[in-house]
Amino acid sequence: MQTICLIPGDGIGPEVIGAAADILSALDLPLKCETYSAGWSCFEKTGKALPEETLAAVKSTGYALFGATSSPSGGAPGYRSPILELRQDLNLFANLRPLRSLPIPDARPDIDLLIVRENTEGLYVRRERWETPDTAIAERVITRAASQRIAQVAVKQAGRRRGRLTIAHKANVLTKTDGLFLETARKVAAEFGGLEIEDRLVDALAHDLVRTPERFDVILAPNLYGDILSDLASALVGGLGVAASVNVGDSCAVYEPVHGSAPDIAGKGIANPSAALLSLALMLDDLQFSEAATRIRSALTSTLQAGICTPDLGGDVRTTDMIAAITARL
Ligand code: NAI
Ligand code: MG
Repeated sequence: MQTICLIPGDGIGPEVIGAAADILSALDLPLKCETYSAGWSCFEKTGKALPEETLAAVKSTGYALFGATSSPSGGAPGYRSPILELRQDLNLFANLRPLRSLPIPDARPDIDLLIVRENTEGLYVRRERWETPDTAIAERVITRAASQRIAQVAVKQAGRRRGRLTIAHKANVLTKTDGLFLETARKVAAEFGGLEIEDRLVDALAHDLVRTPERFDVILAPNLYGDILSDLASALVGGLGVAASVNVGDSCAVYEPVHGSAPDIAGKGIANPSAALLSLALMLDDLQFSEAATRIRSALTSTLQAGICTPDLGGDVRTTDMIAAITARL
């Protein structure tokens, strides 16, 4: 039987992962769940933000559902965000962020897009230095190999979806780095064939995403552009409480809501479980339990249609009420 790791983390992480575990047990699938620690409270207890046991479990099972962890502002000696550590240690090079319109008053209609974000390089290599006391420099790394493998993920996704690929870049200014990313992505897409391919300057793309989000299918972006565009796009479909994602590598995948540990509402029982449930649905799709994934999405949609939702979506129910309503509709 396949085992999956649950890593609840801090703040609302345990609340939303607990909700996902309840839905999973209601579905009664041949999957075994094991819970592992990570995060700030784990660091305070054990001195480790990501214990070896947790990392080893994700490595050996290949599948993890991650809640969220807190990072103290300003940092703490010896503490590094476990999700960044997981992305690096497991070489989770692709970050897939699907965004679909939900029946929520605030959401825009007819959006069904997927942002494929390069997850390992760009400005996130964090090669920063002071050139003089008044000049700070950051190096931006784009390699052909990483551009190629992320483009391969994006074209495969586009092939499975509506066949439309938009490449985000700023190659008019960053002719070498974004030039290489664009050229490589175009080549991979042309070799794949059968896709409608366009490339857009990232600033104009941000504008178009707000004006006409429904026209996009798959958006392929270097690391930082993907990070920014996906938060922007999540605001169009209802906000952070509904945005799901998966970090994919060659042998492991870590599924996680895009949101953080939300300390402002932690412990109040009002966290929106939708993003965690949609992340779980992504995992079930990948585990070939597509029917179960569809049941989760349909039950969530009909619960939202009935106006049963947490305060962030304009409702007045608690997490447990929302989960009860979703379970009844599975
Ligand atoms: P956040 O996503 O935790 O919260 C931003 C706002 O959205 C808050 O008002 C929060 O209440 C609301 N929100 C987020 N998720 C929600 C949900 N499921 N239901 C209802 N409301 C929700 O981002 P913030 O405040 O910037 O960061 C808080 C902590 O989370 C920090 O320590 C940060 O480092 C960490 N963080 C962790 C991430 C991860 O583990 N992957 C990602 C982002 C932030
Ligand atoms: Mg972000």
